[in-house]
Amino acid sequence: MNIKDIDFSSIEKKGFLDIEIDPSLDLFTEIAKLKKEKNAILLAHYYQEADIQDIADFLGDSLALAQKAKQTDADIILFAGVHFMAETAKILNPDKKVLLPDLNAGCSLADSAPAGLFKAFKDKHPDHTVISYINCTADIKALSDIICTSSNAEAIINSLPTDTPIIFAPDKNLGGYLNKKTGRNMILWNGACMVHEIFSVEKIIKLQLKHPNAKLIAHPECEEALLAKADYIGSTTQLLKYSKENEATEFIVATETGILHQMMLDSPSKTFIPAPPTNNCACNDCPHMKLNTLEKLYIALKYETPEILMSEELIVASRKPIERMLEISKAAGLVG
Ligand code: 13P
Ligand code: SF4
Repeated sequence: MNIKDIDFSSIEKKGFLDIEIDPSLDLFTEIAKLKKEKNAILLAHYYQEADIQDIADFLGDSLALAQKAKQTDADIILFAGVHFMAETAKILNPDKKVLLPDLNAGCSLADSAPAGLFKAFKDKHPDHTVISYINCTADIKALSDIICTSSNAEAIINSLPTDTPIIFAPDKNLGGYLNKKTGRNMILWNGACMVHEIFSVEKIIKLQLKHPNAKLIAHPECEEALLAKADYIGSTTQLLKYSKENEATEFIVATETGILHQMMLDSPSKTFIPAPPTNNCACNDCPHMKLNTLEKLYIALKYETPEILMSEELIVASRKPIERMLEISKAAGLVG
């Protein structure tokens, strides 16, 4: 299709460039060609669909993706993840073009902390240091002192003197888990992830009766009652590593189902069972992560849109706490 015949207005209306593409195109080959032509890198999170994971130049958890985004010398970063991840890549690379195939790929956790309300909350505790989980908007990052991910949160907290009063936002489940692990008494913002709160502890217990040797492994965004039953708790990278190295052959996995693809590739002889949600839908698929498709990736790269655009002021204000996280992680030898 000729570029001047394309109606780019769908980006504003729909969040992505909604055009027909030739159904006979081999998208794997076309995306590879475009990446080479444009010196683009495809960064993908473990929650992406399997085909996207398979063609990514780099696949990782939130920490690894931020670290990779900082190191890359590509001109274009095509981000197969959600908005806050692509935004982080842009904050770390203001001069590069960062593309998110569908701007609607948000995050319920990030949405649970609107900046105005959070600022008022923060103002009530002026002596507190603010640690924010990377799953938040750039506006929240700009109001924070340090960012963390689930791979480095303990190290970030422990980098502060034990008597430092801390606000932790936006995930109350991760915050509660970290309070227990570090012995702190951080004030928690009342946010949560819709995917990690959907698991049914009752159904998991029934499943454990059928699979008595299975290890229950969980992301710390899950609720306390589930975490209390888990054999292992960790970030996506840590869960993957545990499932590979542990001698068990069956795992009940309490996080988004996308991670199962790498688990099965890494350990083909083991069995991975997605933890059941409270109802019968595919609710442990993140509806935001799964908005990205091969077609949208191809269109985004071909037409270099939709792009993450941010004001210089917001980039500068939100970069400081991310850089602080990266420095602490580096000093602690942490890679996602
Ligand atoms: P990690 O990949 O850092 O464990 O985070 C999981 C997540 O919720 C991403 O949205
Ligand atoms: Fe956000 Fe949860 Fe989806 Fe991760 S899984 S992007 S925390 S809604």
